[in-house]
Amino acid sequence: MATDLDRLVDEAHTAFAAATQPAALEDAKARFLGKSGKITERLKALATLTPELKREMGASINIAKSAIEQLLVQRRESLAELHLNEQLAAESIDVTLPGRGRSIGAIHPVARTWMRIEEIFRSIGFDFAEGPEIETDWYNFTALNSPENHPARSMQDTFYVDCNDGAGRPLVLRTHTSPMQVRYARMHRPPIKVIAIGRTYRVDSDATHSPMFHQVEGLWLDDNISFADLKAVYTNFLRCFFETDALALRFRPSYFPFTEPSAEIDMMFTSGARKGRWLEISGAGQVHPDVIRNFGHDPQQTIGFAFGSGLERLTMLRYGVDDLRLFFEGDLRFLRQFA
Ligand code: DAH
Repeated sequence: MATDLDRLVDEAHTAFAAATQPAALEDAKARFLGKSGKITERLKALATLTPELKREMGASINIAKSAIEQLLVQRRESLAELHLNEQLAAESIDVTLPGRGRSIGAIHPVARTWMRIEEIFRSIGFDFAEGPEIETDWYNFTALNSPENHPARSMQDTFYVDCNDGAGRPLVLRTHTSPMQVRYARMHRPPIKVIAIGRTYRVDSDATHSPMFHQVEGLWLDDNISFADLKAVYTNFLRCFFETDALALRFRPSYFPFTEPSAEIDMMFTSGARKGRWLEISGAGQVHPDVIRNFGHDPQQTIGFAFGSGLERLTMLRYGVDDLRLFFEGDLRFLRQFA
């Protein structure tokens, strides 16, 4: 009987060794230890024996059973190890292969201009403000002295938003950064020295106009700020921005509803390849007394200037770009030149 059981253990050993996959091993296990497996059958057969034989045989069968169970555990482990080794071999990494290059991003030229302007104005004590691109009609026009039905509103082709601000007032995509003058001045007391940079929108699209563009708004209010201060600040800004003193400025009378008097600022490079042509660079003026009132301040005590310039224009002049649309096409051949 003992030899029969020894043979059974040998048989299980061979069967387990023959199983090269976990599923096959579990099948083999069932043949010995399963419900009608060879060991189980023998245990069942004990029922017909006498108590002494039952004890003796039972002990031998249990020894064989645990030997087979041990063999099973060993085979399970060795199969798992085999599988792991196969996997490691199949998924090996060839560390000698050349690496895949990761391209490095760069800052968009208009964003560079944005950062430069912010830095220059901060260095002369200006605060920096940002505000909403969806603006109420009041901040964008009315507070800036363009009453409803005033022809000044048609100076700018406006995108209207298909809903109102909840109080029935129309909403627009801001057509300029000037509403930020109002927002900021209503929240601060003079002296006020601030610039606001951001996206602006108009129904306009050609080589020199884009429906979305960027502006920088400047505002300096105190009890005695004049056009002379505007000229000094703006000249200093352009010299820093273009990194040259070889440029001239000219104030040309103009009209904006929110300034009186109003001017266009023209600039000209006075040496180098770009020399010799006046270029319109900014609107500006002394803030209109009615606008100062809309700020919530007293025009008898508060006076100052404002200006608004286009970032794309400044960027085009700085880098010699001749088509505005290049900034918005996302063509890497163009953008890489600024990396
Ligand atoms: N908001 C004007 C525009 O978009 C530019 C401008 C002109 C801004 C004169 C000003 C200013 O602050 O004083 O055309």
